Amino acid sequence: MEQTDLQRDVDDLRTKLDQFAYEYFVLDQPTASDAEYDAMMNALRRLETEHPELVTAESPTQQVGGYAKSEFGEVAHPRPLLSLSNVYNEADLNAWDQRAIRFSGVAELEYVTEPKADGLAVALTYVDGALDRAATRGNGIVGDEITANVRAVRAIPVKLRRPENFPMPETIEIRGEIYMRKSDFEGLNNRMAESGGKLFMNPRNAAAGSIRQKDPAITAQRPLRLFVYQIGYVTGAPLPATHFECLEWIRELGFTTSLDAERHASVETVWTACEAWLDRRLDLDFEIDGTVIKVDNLHLQEEIGYVARDPRWATAYKFPAMQQTTRLLDILINVGRTGTLNPLAVLEPVNIGGVTVGRATLHNEDEIARKDIRIGDAVVVQRAGDVIPQIVKVIEERRTGSEVPYQMPDACPSCGTPVHREPGVAMRYCTNATCPAQLKERIHHFISRAAMDIDGLGPNLADRFVDLGWIADVSDIYRLDWQAVAELEGLGEKSAENLQAAVEKSRNQPIWRLIHGLGIQHVGERTANLIADRFGSLASLLEASADDIADIPGIGGVVATAIHGFTVEQVNRELVASLEEVGVQTRDESVSYETGRPLSGLTLVLTGRLGSMTRPEAEEQLRKLGANVTGSVSKKTSAVIAGAEAGGKADKAQQLGVPLLDEEALALLLEGNVPAALADAATD
Ligand code: IVH
Repeated sequence: MEQTDLQRDVDDLRTKLDQFAYEYFVLDQPTASDAEYDAMMNALRRLETEHPELVTAESPTQQVGGYAKSEFGEVAHPRPLLSLSNVYNEADLNAWDQRAIRFSGVAELEYVTEPKADGLAVALTYVDGALDRAATRGNGIVGDEITANVRAVRAIPVKLRRPENFPMPETIEIRGEIYMRKSDFEGLNNRMAESGGKLFMNPRNAAAGSIRQKDPAITAQRPLRLFVYQIGYVTGAPLPATHFECLEWIRELGFTTSLDAERHASVETVWTACEAWLDRRLDLDFEIDGTVIKVDNLHLQEEIGYVARDPRWATAYKFPAMQQTTRLLDILINVGRTGTLNPLAVLEPVNIGGVTVGRATLHNEDEIARKDIRIGDAVVVQRAGDVIPQIVKVIEERRTGSEVPYQMPDACPSCGTPVHREPGVAMRYCTNATCPAQLKERIHHFISRAAMDIDGLGPNLADRFVDLGWIADVSDIYRLDWQAVAELEGLGEKSAENLQAAVEKSRNQPIWRLIHGLGIQHVGERTANLIADRFGSLASLLEASADDIADIPGIGGVVATAIHGFTVEQVNRELVASLEEVGVQTRDESVSYETGRPLSGLTLVLTGRLGSMTRPEAEEQLRKLGANVTGSVSKKTSAVIAGAEAGGKADKAQQLGVPLLDEEALALLLEGNVPAALADAATD
């Protein structure tokens, strides 16, 4: 086939696939069957395999696999992502309106109301119509780079559509919420349950966990969606005069916004709209936790201004927590990893806001006594955001006399050791260091997403290993006999193989994950990161004094004492030795390794189309050689590597006096040869 014919065929397939994705995800009106879509995708994939030079980062094939890993490097947001103040009732709302009016200098303000989607905020930057960078909100100033993962989400366009009634921007930052539909969440959890994986607690956690995968191929399989509510900034085109028009523009660029966003001539009708969203919330297939109210006029927004991180020109009506009535069937005791006996309510399952709730926390025995909770009681259960459901109160009028007051056990329900009670503390403890229930909890924590994140090894399977006597401490996870695992009922060769691969992979987790996974009292993810950054290895941590630890900015005396207390305990030292013995990485390679790599110290930006490889491939290789690859050009950029049709970034590099490299220079860099002009930076 002639090169031009080929290019035309490829372009044609891409246009059609993009259109289908738009109809499916944004319009919710698919015109092609799944089979047609797949056939076209396969045809495109075939052509690209035969002619790799035609692959571009924006090709629909690149959204499913073949992508560089997300590095989760930090990126500064050019404009901070703000948070919202809250109002809880009509009086709050009117007071907020009055204040906004005072700051605006006008007599009455026009508003827009729209739903507040409960997901994960992201900022997506499109340059010359193509997705250039995606970042999480983070703390609003700095977020994590998640471009490769966002590219893997089919519901998020990698190319803007040409708008009909608005201009095409040069650069535009789109802000919105990545979320999962309730129905898709249930489906995902069902699939997870079948494969023995870990279940997500709610759609929000499922969305956040899915977008933060190390492997974009996994993100690609998760049913994520995007709801857009704001333009962060734009260049090369004027901003419209109002927020409502921004929403129209965003829609024409190919994104989903709320079609029910409403304009209000004054605050009069706003409260009705807030209540209407509260009424609709259970009928929607996505979670919302409030109604957002924004001043429509963008110029007046700036006049009204900001207080710290909250705009004064917008607020959120926060819905009351969702409650339901159900029956308390039983109270179970869960032995925590530090030996605490935690009472847990077993409920008749009840649907609260689209999520089935069967358990609730009871905190401790004082709480049970204070609320006079008895087994068999009708109770009011509340679910709010991310927190574990709670029992608000007992409905005493419904008592029949058959309810049974609860007695906390005097012995550990797992190992039978008599419980220990500290005077004045509402807690009971099991002090047996080899208690199987504590061990199970320690293992659950070790394998959890927030620690070693061993895919496919969920708490139930881990418990089976403990019960079989195969795991007596976390290092035994790395000593499992995979042949024997494959023979377990419900597993088989394939599952055992996958599990083994996940376990092997976890050996090389960054050491903050291991430190967090050890379950040291008071050490969460943040503190684990601080320890890892300061000591670089478990060996150094074990040698550190309490003062050395307390010297780390951000770690206080109590926490330092707890950490030191852990490190001097003989069993813990033995556990660390045992982890080393089975080949778990206990040293942060990057500390010594980073400086030894040929491109370390260089900050590079790639732009334009490369002939020899895709941009993500180039990025990955550059990163492996130690370079920091970012999405935007600044004075700190060491060099911009420009392929064909490089646009704004190459211009910016010239303005700032940042060296421009061509593809030949890239080839040299990839061999580890640093051009003389950059050599100084590389040795920094
Ligand atoms: S506007 C004024 N609109 O809520 C700028 N935010 O509490 C603030 N959110 O971080 C954002 N739906 O993640 C806005 N329709 C909506 C929203 C929305 C959900 C989230 C967003 C933001 C948080 C603020």
